[in-house]
Amino acid sequence: MESSADTPATTGTAETTITFSNLRKSFSDGDSTFTVFEDLDFDIAEGGFTSIMGPSGCGKSTLLNVIAGLIPADDGEITRNGERIEPGSFFYGYVFQEPRLLDWLTIGENIRFALRAQDVPPEDQSGRIYRYLELVGLEDKIDSYPQQLSGGMRQRVGIARALAIDPDILFMDEPFSSLDEFTAKELRKDLLDIWQETAKTIIFVTHNSSEAVFLSDSILILDGNGKLFDQVSVDVPRPRRIGDEALIETESAMMERFFAHLQNTPADDEQ
Ligand SMILES: Nc1ncnc2c1ncn2[C@@H]1O[C@H](COP(=O)(O)OP(=O)(O)OP(=O)(O)O)[C@@H](O)[C@H]1O
Ligand SMILES: [Mg+2]
Repeated sequence: MESSADTPATTGTAETTITFSNLRKSFSDGDSTFTVFEDLDFDIAEGGFTSIMGPSGCGKSTLLNVIAGLIPADDGEITRNGERIEPGSFFYGYVFQEPRLLDWLTIGENIRFALRAQDVPPEDQSGRIYRYLELVGLEDKIDSYPQQLSGGMRQRVGIARALAIDPDILFMDEPFSSLDEFTAKELRKDLLDIWQETAKTIIFVTHNSSEAVFLSDSILILDGNGKLFDQVSVDVPRPRRIGDEALIETESAMMERFFAHLQNTPADDEQ
């Protein structure tokens, strides 16, 4: 395992890296301005699995939305293998904490809705719907309605819908945090299989350190003040086993550094 708070996190074996430099985002409310994060510098390996971790309210979702271009950054630059790219130019799929399915449409129609929005030709839609439902093991639920599915199944549909548009990047914001641990464990393993099969770049937000270590090549850790505190490469071979000693060691060392940092760092409003 390698870690440094001073060098950008470049991980994975992929040759293409997307570099984010000097990212800053603040929200204004009348006369007061609240800076969520500033001076963030990091790299993401294309085809890699990167997690963003940190305590509640530290800015994980905001950072994900800024990376996606859903909300504009105040400052910052994005380059891909050294060439500047415009914010918002990634073609991405997004998986939220709740799957946000349309209750009045069947599972198949929910995915078709997303495909139509991306102008996927009608003759390709049914094949894609079936293929991605099969990928998440739900092809037999194609004509069911969301309320007929369990929470874990609905989340799988959310993943299938995000993948069915064939995005370059899959953004996932705490997709398993509302599920029971048994279901979450299954879905984490399934997600890794899907990732390896589809070779997508995944950027995954979590506040769960064992989840981050199990899934990721690289973990960006924000502290409670929106600073990029740590950048961890998880060099544990795949396939990984839950409870693998190397994963547990990586997680313990990471969390020890994090808690030591928190003890030495007053919150912004105490400084
Ligand atoms: N649209 C907004 N307007 C004003 N403040 C916002 C807005 N969105 C987020 N914030 C603030 O930015 C900070 C970071 O919020 P964000 O949702 O990114 O945190 P998070 O790390 O994802 O938290 P959680 O783990 O609870 O989801 C919070 O203080 C939040 O109140
Ligand atoms: Mg969030």
